[in-house]
Amino acid sequence: MCGIVGYIGNRDAFPVVLNGLKRLEYRGYDSAGIALYDGTDIQMCKTQGKVADLEAKIQQNMPTKGTLGIGHTRWATHGVPNDVNSHPHYSNSGELVIIHNGIIENYASIKKELKKRGYTFTSDTDTEVLVNLIEDIKINEKVKLGKAVQIALNQVVGAYAIAVFDHNKPDEIVVAKLGSPLAIGIGDDEFFVASDATPFIEFTNNAIYLEDEEMAIVRRGREVKVRKIKGDSVVVPYVQELQLNLEQIEKGGYDHFMLKEIYEQPSVIKDTYRGRLLSDQGIIKLGGLDEYIEKFTNANRIIIVACGTSWHAGLVAEYIFEDLARIPVEVEYASEFRYRNPIITEKDVIIAISQSGETADTLAAIKLAKEKGAFVYGVCNVVGSTISRETHSGSYTHAGPEIGVASTKAFTTQITVLTMIALRLAKVKGTISQSDYMMHLHELETIPAKVEEALKSDENIKKISAVFKDARNFLYLGRGYNFPVALEGALKLKEISYIHAEGYPAAEMKHGPIALIDEQMPVVVIAVNSNHYEKVVSNIEEIKARKGKIIALVSEGDTAVKELADYVMEVPITPEALSPLVTTIPLQLLSYHIAVMLDRNVDQPRNLAKSVTVE
Ligand code: G6P
Repeated sequence: MCGIVGYIGNRDAFPVVLNGLKRLEYRGYDSAGIALYDGTDIQMCKTQGKVADLEAKIQQNMPTKGTLGIGHTRWATHGVPNDVNSHPHYSNSGELVIIHNGIIENYASIKKELKKRGYTFTSDTDTEVLVNLIEDIKINEKVKLGKAVQIALNQVVGAYAIAVFDHNKPDEIVVAKLGSPLAIGIGDDEFFVASDATPFIEFTNNAIYLEDEEMAIVRRGREVKVRKIKGDSVVVPYVQELQLNLEQIEKGGYDHFMLKEIYEQPSVIKDTYRGRLLSDQGIIKLGGLDEYIEKFTNANRIIIVACGTSWHAGLVAEYIFEDLARIPVEVEYASEFRYRNPIITEKDVIIAISQSGETADTLAAIKLAKEKGAFVYGVCNVVGSTISRETHSGSYTHAGPEIGVASTKAFTTQITVLTMIALRLAKVKGTISQSDYMMHLHELETIPAKVEEALKSDENIKKISAVFKDARNFLYLGRGYNFPVALEGALKLKEISYIHAEGYPAAEMKHGPIALIDEQMPVVVIAVNSNHYEKVVSNIEEIKARKGKIIALVSEGDTAVKELADYVMEVPITPEALSPLVTTIPLQLLSYHIAVMLDRNVDQPRNLAKSVTVE
């Protein structure tokens, strides 16, 4: 939550910081601000609203000179979104300026102390408390900015990625990290700091990702100095070469990032298994897995921890791991798992799934599992992210940057990786026949073409969307492997259209949701070929008998459901275990079109953020 960006070098900081904020807006977008420093005066502009609102405000009334600049796009935690609570924040003297992503949990007691010493506060934020704590230490202990930041951070409890500069030090930005991500881009005599590497990708391919409890002093024309916040030891930073390119983070002709990302799925699913799936030879090679295969085969059970859409991918994985590899699986919301004193032993394997690799609850669940001696495997998209570093091993999904807040390609690529893991384990454990194994390998390779085929029904789905866009509620039903897909379909609709939607196991409908069904209620039923097909047909009959409107998702060639349904969406025939990769697509498109028709902000839905780095 919240995006931070900073620049120090020889070029104008303003365009770098402004464009950086636009790229980081997925992290929060209720208010934004920029501070620029030209060596003499600090200029600052903040506003409630989006980065575009900030840009308009700056054009009207702020000089944009300066080769040092910092900016922030906010997802409010402490204090409502308004101009005053927006970042950056000044210290009382006006000399220090800070931006912050995270939460200072003990801010109230620090604020009380500072107030006693005469400090005043204009905002309700924890961040303004932090910058004044730093100032207080700097003045009282007569130390430089870097030291004052370090002492202050040793007193705070919480999470942060911060960037702070001092009016008296025009050549320096001090940054620090605990819990929230922070990357430093290293150019020629210039540096960039940001919540991820996207703001500086056109300027440099070299980046340092700070580890937790590290801080850095970034000085114009000098080397970056990294230190431990506790203990003060010097850290030799690892400079990583980035794999991103500019094209990947632009819309490429699509109206929204979400649509672009939906349409990217055939190619990114291929990227996910490229070089890992050698179907003709019957081989699945996953670097991170091969070395630790015995951890999995000897495990008592697998516990999957995740949040949001990644949790739904975990539910799909539960079916496939148990079905094919015969390993018991539990799927946990990371936020519940971490706080309920879970029973974890050294014989448990934890799989943490996260697109961003930064979700605070998932990260905390990983730390807890590690403390209890479990082996932790990560399935992440963002290379070098905190979760990918904190896990013992793992596999990247290689979906490329996902910018739309509603997750799409991350979900299908997570399922692709998890399917490969399950198949590899099934093979090693001998729980799958050779013919079944080979069939799944070959079928997995046909998924990109099937997803392509599913995307062709876009026009039909648009028409269905037009019919139901004004519905107040939706029900999504599925069974077996497609129950999690029903949950994900409902989540997508809620997230971007703000229509209430519930996902349910089709049979469970009888125990409650059936009471909601009347002629106003659209019910999306996933009724593709499967072991449960006949049972789903019966569920459809039950809905029809109560006059519900059926939007059925069927396999090509279906006849029985087509006769019953009011509207039909078709997907290619796919083996059941792989079917979520295909059935998800029409549901993504349905929610997308409804949201567009309702004029919602598809890529940045209200109240949400792409990466939830607070608990
Ligand atoms: C947020 C996002 C969701 C995402 C969830 C988990 O809520 O809006 O799209 O599924 O976080 O994020 P992660 O990065 O851990 O997969």
